[in-house]
Amino acid sequence: MKTWLVLALLALPMVAEAKPTLSVWTRAPGTSAEPAVIPPPEAKLIDLGAKRSRDSKLYDPQYGAEALYRGIALDDLLANLPGGPAFDQVLLRFDNGMVIPISRWPEMDDSPFLALAHSSDGTTWSTTFEALPKKGHPADDPRPIRFTTNKLVYRGADARELPDWSPWRHVSSLVGIELVNAGAWTRQFALSKDGRVTQGLEVFERYCSACHGVRGVGARFGWDVVTPIPMTEHRSSPGVLYFHVKYRELDAAKRGFMMPALSPVTEDEVTSLWKWLDLAAKEPLRPYTPPVSR
Ligand code: HEC
Repeated sequence: MKTWLVLALLALPMVAEAKPTLSVWTRAPGTSAEPAVIPPPEAKLIDLGAKRSRDSKLYDPQYGAEALYRGIALDDLLANLPGGPAFDQVLLRFDNGMVIPISRWPEMDDSPFLALAHSSDGTTWSTTFEALPKKGHPADDPRPIRFTTNKLVYRGADARELPDWSPWRHVSSLVGIELVNAGAWTRQFALSKDGRVTQGLEVFERYCSACHGVRGVGARFGWDVVTPIPMTEHRSSPGVLYFHVKYRELDAAKRGFMMPALSPVTEDEVTSLWKWLDLAAKEPLRPYTPPVSR
């Protein structure tokens, strides 16, 4: 092939404007492993541009400001997805590897808004969303959160007081929706009936699982807590782990680190978390077994 043609072909994807799409798929039962690629090849592609959009004035906790957003309320979209009532939870999958589970039928007022464009005056609309540096680092953050299209605007009741560590502050563009059964999804991680271990799993789900996966299952933003190196080996006591989770060096953002300080976490919670992490390093996850839908 001629060199110029190769160069022209290489340049194509950069020139083409990103079309707003969203991949939707259902979790395959039995295995614990994630699909090799996200979204998996069997995912259905929704053309968001073809959906009816509406304009809403919203406060976006990521930018800490109000603006006009044009897009789709997620509850509208979720209600019309395939998959029977057994699929009562969706895993929101973000471009940066984060995963946040929400109910398939969220409260209407709370449902996040999937923005495709924004405007400050209602006349000029932009489909690009500004990169978001970490708090306190407007100019020197080398790895701000970047958005393509599909900017999710969190609308929970606590949107105006959302804490700095909240996963909703760290999400990038929404790229996929995976339908799961909530009970079966959670049971994969229930490795023991011991009270401490159970509390540890709750701590993991509240504070860590949006960013960290377990044995290749779940999020891929931070490192997997078991593979290839168990977190409990690297952070070899609850005390050491506690220190990492709770505090961050002042120049962490400047050095390109993405994990926020999870300041409300207590030493007691991390002690439980460590117990669960230790067990997860020793035992496989339970298989994902959703009820059979007919
Ligand atoms: C908003 C996303 C996010 C959340 C929430 C999060 N992490 Fe992280 N974590 C990361 C990322 C990204 C990294 C990779 C290093 C970096 O960029 O900071 C990381 C790295 C780590 C490391 C390795 C860092 C090192 O120096 O050894 C540990 C340990 C860790 N996380 C534990 C946790 C635990 C435990 C929780 C929950 C209590 C948690 N993280 C919650 C994103 C997150």
